[in-house]
Formats: sequence, C-alpha cells, structure tokens
Amino acid sequence: MYKYFFHLVFRRMDPERAHHLAFRWIRLVARVPGLRTFVAAVLAPRHRELRTEALGLRLHSPFGLAAGFDKNAVGVDGMAMLGFDHVEIGTVTGEPQPGNPKKRLFRLVADRALINRMGFNNEGSLAVAARLASRTPVFRTVVGVNIGKTKAVPEAEAVGDYVKSAERLAPYADYLVVNVSSPNTPGLRDLQAVDHLRPLLTAVREAADRAAPARRVPLLVKIAPDLADEDVDAVADLAVELGLDGIIATNTTIARAGLGLRSGPAAVQETGGLSGAPLKARSLQVLRRLYARVGDRITLVGVGGIENAEDAWQRILAGATLVQGYSAFVYEGPFWARTLHKGLAARLRTSPYATLADAVGAEVRTTA
Ligand SMILES: Cc1cc2nc3c(=O)[nH]c(=O)nc-3n(C[C@H](O)[C@H](O)[C@H](O)COP(=O)(O)O)c2cc1C
Repeated sequence: MYKYFFHLVFRRMDPERAHHLAFRWIRLVARVPGLRTFVAAVLAPRHRELRTEALGLRLHSPFGLAAGFDKNAVGVDGMAMLGFDHVEIGTVTGEPQPGNPKKRLFRLVADRALINRMGFNNEGSLAVAARLASRTPVFRTVVGVNIGKTKAVPEAEAVGDYVKSAERLAPYADYLVVNVSSPNTPGLRDLQAVDHLRPLLTAVREAADRAAPARRVPLLVKIAPDLADEDVDAVADLAVELGLDGIIATNTTIARAGLGLRSGPAAVQETGGLSGAPLKARSLQVLRRLYARVGDRITLVGVGGIENAEDAWQRILAGATLVQGYSAFVYEGPFWARTLHKGLAARLRTSPYATLADAVGAEVRTTA
C-alpha cells in the first residue's frame, strides 16, 4: 500500500519536501498517547531472539536509523515508534548552518538509491543539546549522536569544532560518532587520514570524558566507502590503538558504480553522496575487511544499502553487531523495520547459530 502511496504522492513531490512532510506526520502521531502506543505495538514488535548487547548498551534489536534523517533530534520517539531500535541523530556541527543550496536531495527510484548533498544542514550543537536535555523519552530507545565539522571553520581548527560539539552533546548521547566521511563538506574526508584522525579522536574522547565524567560514553568513527583498502586497515588499527568503541561502515559514496542509466542521466550526474542499493556491495566489503582486521575487539556497525532482512543478516555474518539504514526507508515506508525484524528473527531461527551474537562475523571467521 505504501508503494502506491509513494508513487501517487511522494514521487511527484520534491524529495526534501516529502521528507519533511512525512517526518512531520510521524512526529504528530508520536505525540498522541493512545495512538503512538498502538502504532508502536504494530510496527515495533519485540523479538526475544533479536535482543542485542553492544557498546555496553542493551537493545531490543540490532537495527536502527542511520544519521541524517533526524539531524536535529526532533523526532526520536517517532522513529522509535516505527521500530528503529536505535536512532542516530545528526550530523550536528559546532555551529548552526543552513547546508547547501536547494535542490540537494535526489531520488533514483529505478536504482532504489538517493543522491544527497545536504551539507550538514542543522541547528548546531547548542540548540540540539538543549533539545536533548529537555526531552522526556516516550519509548526506550538508544540515541546516538553524530558530530561533524562546521563548514565555515577552517580545517586547521576542525578539532576545536568537534570538541565543542562533544562537550555539549556527550551528556545526552548513548554513543557518540565522529563523522569524518560525508562527501558534502569540503576537506572533511581528509580527516580520515590517520595523522589527522589520531589527534581528533583523542581530543573528542577527552572532551566526552570531561563532559560526562560519571560514565564512559562509547565513541565511534564513521568512515567512507571510498577509502582505499589500506586506509580502511589504517583506520581499523588506529581504532584499536586508541581503544575506540566502534566503527560505522559506511557513509555515502562519491562513486557511481552500480548505477545504471535506469534513473535517467540527469539524476545520476548530480554531485553528492550516493546511498541505497548501489552502495550495498562496497559497504559490505569494507565491513568484512574491518572485521578481518579488528575481530571482536571493536563493535562494528554496518550501514549502506541495507534493504531487507537478508541484507542485515549478511552484515551480521560479515561482522556487524549493529546495522542501520536510511535510503530504503524512503522506498519501503513505515512497515520497513517491522518486516526487517520479522525476517531477521526467522533467518536466525533457521541458521546454525543459537544467538545473534554467535552469528556476528561467523562468515569472516570461517574463511580466515
Ligand atoms: C539525505 C541523507 C542525508 C544524510 N546525512 C547524513 C549525516 O548528516 N551524517 C551522516 O553521518 N550520514 C548521513 N547520511 C548517510 C547515512 O547515514 C548512511 O550512512 C548512508 O545513507 C548509507 O545508508 P543507506 O544506503 O541505508 O541510506 C545521509 C544520507 C542521506 C540519504
């Protein structure tokens, strides 16, 4: 039914407008007590076998919403109501900024993909921290906070900008993500080079500890699928060296491999990060490589082109303890998380593994 609705209504609408409209509806429903309980009961059922422990947190499931959907933490309960068991808000930057000029989000429907060059449009770390501080959670959801660099801040001062965000946001974060992989902020991805990344992650770790001294906020880094394999290894080694809690693989890609001309040459030529189905193969490859390198020492989060339970299962076998998605939600609609959870529980039951934790990385371990 959603697919008819998508084709009739959303497809004709500008993608960013459609996003805001849909998100407003979700938030509206989540504000009505009886209704939200009903919707959550239908869309966020609990499968005992999907319970997951990761980053020192207890989750109902390994599946959550990737960063970028709720940049300002305005709809965490709405997304939890739809079945996303963790919601990664952001990217939040040190200072508020409008992002790139519109139009900046493009649907490639035939390829089940999106291209975006949003450019971290967000209200800034002060406003988002205030919102999180005053939030009364309705559903028990893990809230990850993803931070990035303010565009106007020179690259030489990037560390200070991240530190500012970390200090403000760490107290409200179940986990904190240093995003150095968005293709839409000039120079950002250069921070993935180990020489830049080491001081950045060290400073953010210290900032988080200062801001939230009572607990150790888990710290993760989110990487691009466009890194060369040796650079993936270098980030993995650095993460182990620094005692980082996790790596999120991957962000969107600047490559256009895997895209036919099905979506029309105009959309394909747009600059920005490509997400959705065409990203699947490379994200999975990066994840496998990371797991082969770090094993169980670091929590891996698989994201990029996950469309269904089978995709999520493949990520788990490749080493992901948590999985996330964004683009497929646009095409699959509000029942997406429910269907994925049901399928994932069934997949586990018919597998040789007693628990999800047993399945994590199993495929990489057997081929090693
Ligand atoms: C419109 C849009 C905006 C995004 N914004 C962010 C962001 O602000 N920070 C971030 O780390 N990732 C961002 N992402 C990347 C997603 O979190 C995810 O890594 C990527 O889309 C791959 O997953 P998917 O194929 O399931 O969409 C964005 C993705 C999309 C489509």
